[in-house]
Amino acid sequence: MVLHKFSYSRMFTKDHIISIRDFSKEEIDYVLSRAEKLEIYARGLEDRKCNLLDGKVLANLFYEPSTRTRLSFEAAMTRLGGAILNLSSTESSSVVKGENLADTIRTVSGYCDVITLRHPQEGASRMAASFSSVPIINAGDGAGQHPTQTLLDLYTIKREGLLDGLKIALIGDLKYGRTVHSLAYALSLYGATLFFVSPNALKMPEEIKSDLKETGAEIFEYTDVKEVIKKVNVLYVTRIQKERFPDPTEYSKVAGTYRITTDILKENEDVVVMHPLPRVDEIDVEVDKTKNARYFTQSFYGVPVRMAILSILLGK
Ligand code: CP
Repeated sequence: MVLHKFSYSRMFTKDHIISIRDFSKEEIDYVLSRAEKLEIYARGLEDRKCNLLDGKVLANLFYEPSTRTRLSFEAAMTRLGGAILNLSSTESSSVVKGENLADTIRTVSGYCDVITLRHPQEGASRMAASFSSVPIINAGDGAGQHPTQTLLDLYTIKREGLLDGLKIALIGDLKYGRTVHSLAYALSLYGATLFFVSPNALKMPEEIKSDLKETGAEIFEYTDVKEVIKKVNVLYVTRIQKERFPDPTEYSKVAGTYRITTDILKENEDVVVMHPLPRVDEIDVEVDKTKNARYFTQSFYGVPVRMAILSILLGK
């Protein structure tokens, strides 16, 4: 499928955003520096308006629930002066009549300039890209990837001044959690030391560990946060992805097996706590009041980062 004519930035030559593994370090740095410039507009101050994408249309196609990704893409497009079409649940669309993804993409790409797609099936965004006449942005494909989440995670770490020489613990559901899959790949480009902390049943997939080792990444595996907290700058906590367990009894065996509390944080008073959200019970709400908590700032950063992505992808 031939795309509409876009004038991409010289630093950024992608037609679609499908996997963080398609990015070079230079391309990621470029997105992060654009986001820094746009952050002032993302805050929506009255005297700071930005109409870079005036007349452009974003279509959000979400086949799975979302709060942050969908709404921050909406906020980003609105802050850039563009318009939004929303398919926020499949129940209200012709998907319930049996329409396949390819036909939906062929149709919707005629209505807009860029599509975000969240879908339960791994690989759905790459497949959608082959049927689309406009750029596809993967907003999460099953247990696969969530590249724009990774870009905002990196932005958060960068804003903390921790991207160089980072030591980070990725905690929780490393088997099904797409955010940690994408983030681990991206951090390997920055030479980060990676500490994987999970129950044995939810370890980082062997294939991903093997890919990371090939890049020379330093990886360590643990089952207890207490063993790593003094060694790291960042705790990146994730929810156990209940919806991806084929057998609910397997979920009940691991539910509630780890929890970040203010007591644990006493072991490292400077550690930054991140989480892609939504949280269930893996971070105690008392942690929200500490200087360590950064997860709501992190979710705000979804707006400038997605403004950067949209404006680059649409050639502005
Ligand atoms: N982090 C994230 O993807 O959140 P949502 O599922 O709410 O979009």
